[in-house]
Amino acid sequence: MSLKDIDKSNIPRHVAVIMDGNGRWAKKRGLRRENGHREGRKSVRKIVECCAELGVKNLTLYAFSTENWNRPKLEVDFLMQLLFLSLRDELKTLNKNNIRFETIGNLSRMPKKIGNYLEKVKEETKDNSKLTLTLALSYGSRSEIVNVVRELSDKVKNNIISSKNIDETVINDHLYTRNLPDVDLLIRTSGEKRISNFLLWQIAYSELYFTKKLWPDFRKKDLYKAIISYQSRERRFGKTSEQIK
Ligand code: FPP
Repeated sequence: MSLKDIDKSNIPRHVAVIMDGNGRWAKKRGLRRENGHREGRKSVRKIVECCAELGVKNLTLYAFSTENWNRPKLEVDFLMQLLFLSLRDELKTLNKNNIRFETIGNLSRMPKKIGNYLEKVKEETKDNSKLTLTLALSYGSRSEIVNVVRELSDKVKNNIISSKNIDETVINDHLYTRNLPDVDLLIRTSGEKRISNFLLWQIAYSELYFTKKLWPDFRKKDLYKAIISYQSRERRFGKTSEQIK
C-alpha cells in the first residue's frame, strides 16, 4: 500500500490522532519514557508534513489529556518543555508551509511561559490556510461538554438564548472545536482500542482506525494505510446503502 493507492478525490477533511505508545516504545529498548516522547515528536513532524502533502485540511493531535496531569511531575515537566522547544523550533516551518496552529483544551492549567508561547504561535499563524494543526492540550472531552452546559445555562438564565433553541448546532458552536468540521477519521496507535475522553461529541460519525504500531514508529506509510482503510468504508450516516448511491 502506498501513495498511489490513495484516491485524491476522497481525502478525509479532518483527521484526529490519539498518539499512544511512547512509553512502551522506550521501555522495549531499555530507555527512559522521555526518550519515547522525544522520538514521538519526530512522528508528529512526519505526519503533519504528510497531511499537508495529501491535502488533509485539519489535523488534531491528542498531545496532553486532563488525566495526564496526574503523571509523575518529572514527566509532566519534560512534556511541557518538549512542547515549548517544538513550538519554538517549528514556528518558522509552520509559516513556510502555510500551516495554521490552534489548540483545544483548558490552557489556564498550562505553565504561564508555555501558555503565552502557544498564544504567540496561534497569532503568528492565524492567516495560514493549507492545513489547520490543532493540539489538544490539557484536554478532556467530558469537561469540554460540562463547560458547554455551564455556558448555555448562563445564557438561558440571562435570556440570551431560549432553551427551546438549543440544538446540535448551538452545542457545536460552544465546543472548543467550533471552527473545525466533524472528525472523519480517528486513528489510535499502540493497539489500545479506547477513545480515552477524546472528542466524544465530534466523533459521532467518524471512521475509527486502530493500529498496533507504537506512535514513535508511526510513519507516512502507516498514515497512507489508515486513509486507504477509510476510503474502503461506506459512510452511511444512518442511511441505507442504496440511499448513498
Ligand atoms: C502517549 O504515550 C503520549 C503522550 C501522553 C504525549 C504525546 C507527546 C508526544 C507525541 C511528544 C511530542 C508532541 C508534541 C506535540 C511536541 P504514552 O506515554 O501514554 O505511552 P505508553 O502508553 O506506552 O506509556
